[in-house]
Amino acid sequence: MAMYHIFIVIILFLGSSLAVKTGFQARITPTGLRFLSDVGVRKLKEEISKATIPDQSGSADVVIGTIRYSLTNIHVTRFDIPSASISTVTDVGLKVSASGLSISLHGDWRYKLDSFIPVSDSGSFDVWISDVTLYVTIEIGVDATGRPTVYSSSNDCAFYAGRVDITLHGGASWLYNLFDSEIADKIQDTLNHQVCQTVINEVNTDLAEEVANIQIVASITDKAEIDYSLVTSPTFDVTLTTSHKGEIYQKGNHTEAPYEIPTIPSDPDQSKMVFMWMTDYVANSAGYVLQNTGFFQYNVTQDKVPPSSKISLNTSEFAVEFLIPQLAKLYPDMMMQLNLNTTQPPLVSITPDKVGATVTGDVAAYVIQPNNTLAYLFTLEATLKLSAKLGFKQSSLTWNSSYVSADLRLLRTAIKDFKIDKLRLKFQLACKMFIIPKINDMGAAGVPVPSFDKYSLQNPELTQGKGFVKIGTDMVYDPLWETRAKSRRQQQKDV
Ligand SMILES: *[C@@H]1O[C@H](CO)[C@@H](O)[C@H](O)[C@H]1NC(C)=O
Ligand SMILES: *[C@@H]1O[C@H](CO)[C@@H](O)[C@H](O)[C@H]1NC(C)=O
Ligand SMILES: *[C@@H]1O[C@H](CO)[C@@H](O)[C@H](O)[C@H]1NC(C)=O
Ligand SMILES: *[C@@H]1O[C@H](CO)[C@@H](O)[C@H](O)[C@H]1NC(C)=O
Ligand SMILES: *[C@@H]1O[C@H](CO)[C@@H](O)[C@H](O)[C@H]1NC(C)=O
Ligand SMILES: *[C@@H]1O[C@H](CO)[C@@H](O)[C@H](O)[C@H]1NC(C)=O
Repeated sequence: MAMYHIFIVIILFLGSSLAVKTGFQARITPTGLRFLSDVGVRKLKEEISKATIPDQSGSADVVIGTIRYSLTNIHVTRFDIPSASISTVTDVGLKVSASGLSISLHGDWRYKLDSFIPVSDSGSFDVWISDVTLYVTIEIGVDATGRPTVYSSSNDCAFYAGRVDITLHGGASWLYNLFDSEIADKIQDTLNHQVCQTVINEVNTDLAEEVANIQIVASITDKAEIDYSLVTSPTFDVTLTTSHKGEIYQKGNHTEAPYEIPTIPSDPDQSKMVFMWMTDYVANSAGYVLQNTGFFQYNVTQDKVPPSSKISLNTSEFAVEFLIPQLAKLYPDMMMQLNLNTTQPPLVSITPDKVGATVTGDVAAYVIQPNNTLAYLFTLEATLKLSAKLGFKQSSLTWNSSYVSADLRLLRTAIKDFKIDKLRLKFQLACKMFIIPKINDMGAAGVPVPSFDKYSLQNPELTQGKGFVKIGTDMVYDPLWETRAKSRRQQQKDV
């Protein structure tokens, strides 16, 4: 009985430590990996065509003396990589495979033979390395700071160049072409021995250093930043899934936001290249920071009131409109100022059919006296509840919100006989007529979802669950990416 009990406790403990809370989660599916390997091949081709290969020189002792040779102006004339792929290795990491690869080089050769009769000769050469196969497995984990780690051992790499052909031109090359197959064999052996060592070394030094310095915090505003460090090692099955902290903090103050982090249910979806599950915790931690850094403060004077709302902040007119005679009596014909500030962080809650948002704040009213000092009038507490539908327009996240409720409550007043009913009606009307349309104007333009260098989202889809939204999308190569990004930024500015 006791053993049984301990067993359960251990299982529960393991269970709770495994279910690491994560603000957002991302997944790359096999089609996404195929896309990424195409991106990689495209980049590799660009890089290799621009690559400069260092001049080679050396010396060799032959029977009649020492040959000093140099190979210069070496460049790639052709590079083919007919098949390349990135795939997952379950519980280990990623495997890069390429086969049928071939590369052609052209350059100049020259040699000097230091013997009793000095001889020198020069010409050009072509090298064709073909039937190349390369496999590298990169073991991927996470370090204590939440950055990924990479590692490859000698068992993780295989390289084989099936064929090396050399042709020399110029000089007495007809002579050397007689033994070029010997040189070719030597090059082939060297490649087959050296390439994996070089690749593994690259992974364990350059690549390891690069990922160890990866950014895990990004600035959002001058006061807020998002921490997207990994909370656990990436998981590899047929897909690659990463879990991120996804919390927004005040810069220099990493106090945790006091909200429950929703659990993202396991979901085997592989129908798109990439997926992202974003919990409402991310939005709420942002609201928490914005509230604590005093972001939502806004003072309304008459010039900020849309004329079409027909709201006058002139005390005489306001008093008549809202049945507060005392106001006109105390401060006739003066202008008022309304200081808005949120008193609680705005709260977002996502459910399968909608996104609800609640904003609660104070409206403190003052009158601007003839000598420009403010006299306090009253404070109202306002609560506005919205519900929104999220969607996508091209690569931008859009929203369309609708009114749920708006309420006003009198907190304090320096004015007697204050009746709030008419004010409440006007507030509700203003929310429906001005505030929500304004929010929806921004929502119709949307917020561009980050995409990268020349690649755009294709057919992004958004679905909601309890506490999270799930975004799935394919990616495409888009040569007009730059132009599109510019016009989106312009649209943003116009709103
Ligand atoms: C950090 O933020 C928390 C929550 O907003 C706040 O209570 C605390 O005073 C802040 N600490 C500093 C040093 O600013
Ligand atoms: C709003 O007005 C108050 C004075 O009533 C002032 O202290 C505050 O700085 C103003 N806030 C903003 C955001 O302009
Ligand atoms: C306020 O409204 C009254 C009545 O419409 C008008 O006579 C007065 O000039 C206005 N005062 C200001 C400061 O605009
Ligand atoms: C917001 O309003 C409340 C109530 O009027 C007030 O106590 C608080 O100081 C205000 N906060 C800011 C940052 O103005
Ligand atoms: C501004 O005018 C009001 C009302 O006339 C008065 O009570 C207040 O003392 C004046 N303030 C200053 C700084 O002159
Ligand atoms: C937003 O939703 C309302 C109904 O709630 C609908 O009438 C309106 O057409 C929608 N607007 C957009 C841009 O989808």
